Amino acid sequence: MVEHPRIVLLGLPGSGKGTQAAFMTKAWGVPAFSSGEYFRNLRRAGALSAEIAAKISAGGLVSDEDVSAIVVEAFLSTQRAQAGFVLDGYPRTVAQAAFLDEYLSKQSLGLSAVIYIDLPEEVAFKRIAGRRICPQDGDVYNVHYSPSSREGFCDRCGSALVQRDDDREESVSVRMRKYDEVTKVLTGYYARRHILISVDGSLTPDDVFCRIAQELDDKA
Ligand code: AP5
Ligand code: MG
Repeated sequence: MVEHPRIVLLGLPGSGKGTQAAFMTKAWGVPAFSSGEYFRNLRRAGALSAEIAAKISAGGLVSDEDVSAIVVEAFLSTQRAQAGFVLDGYPRTVAQAAFLDEYLSKQSLGLSAVIYIDLPEEVAFKRIAGRRICPQDGDVYNVHYSPSSREGFCDRCGSALVQRDDDREESVSVRMRKYDEVTKVLTGYYARRHILISVDGSLTPDDVFCRIAQELDDKA
């Protein structure tokens, strides 16, 4: 495993980016940042503008300028991101990828690897339909694949589990379309830089993580 890895996770909505980011943090102690989770936390705290909240809820993307500024301010520039990081859900446009390249290169840094979690869209739809989250601590469950011990309630704090409001079918369709239109191209962008690692996202979470770890080891 490379020391202080700087990793980006790419993949369709529901492909398992957040799940794998949590594995990485647990196994390697590398801090992870999910731009989507950051927005959801702001919203829970009543600190997200109504305009951005509505955009996310409908499945659209936040502007490149806003997201990039937030990722730098809330994470990349902070002390905890200095010894390696995992970015989950950022970048997701070429403009964001170019911004990140420039930001890192100013510090003579680059990404160690970009991990593309490959999953058919219909499986991603099913996973999203089954996803439930704890509104209190953000823990993620799945009624099909990883249910909580007491159905409908968080194992950790006992809160009633909810669906993300952008997990409604019509919003998910918009998110899938957006992925096709503006994010998919990033696999080619990073493949050309020889830092793309593709893994089969249809395996169990443990197996997906093993494959990622193996690929990173091979690369090191
Ligand atoms: P974000 O929160 O990043 O959503 P997303 O990309 O749509 O991805 P998801 O969180 O839905 O899925 P995931 O890949 O993390 O899957 P998970 O691990 O949960 O972004 C939300 C919104 O914020 C965006 O739509 C946009 O509006 C805005 N935004 C964020 N970043 C932005 C940016 N850079 N630019 C502009 N706008 C931005 O897994 C899914 C489910 O499957 C779970 O229930 C899980 O338990 C289960 N599961 C996971 N892995 C497996 C497995 N291997 N086998 C079985 N089940 C599994
Ligand atoms: Mg996620």
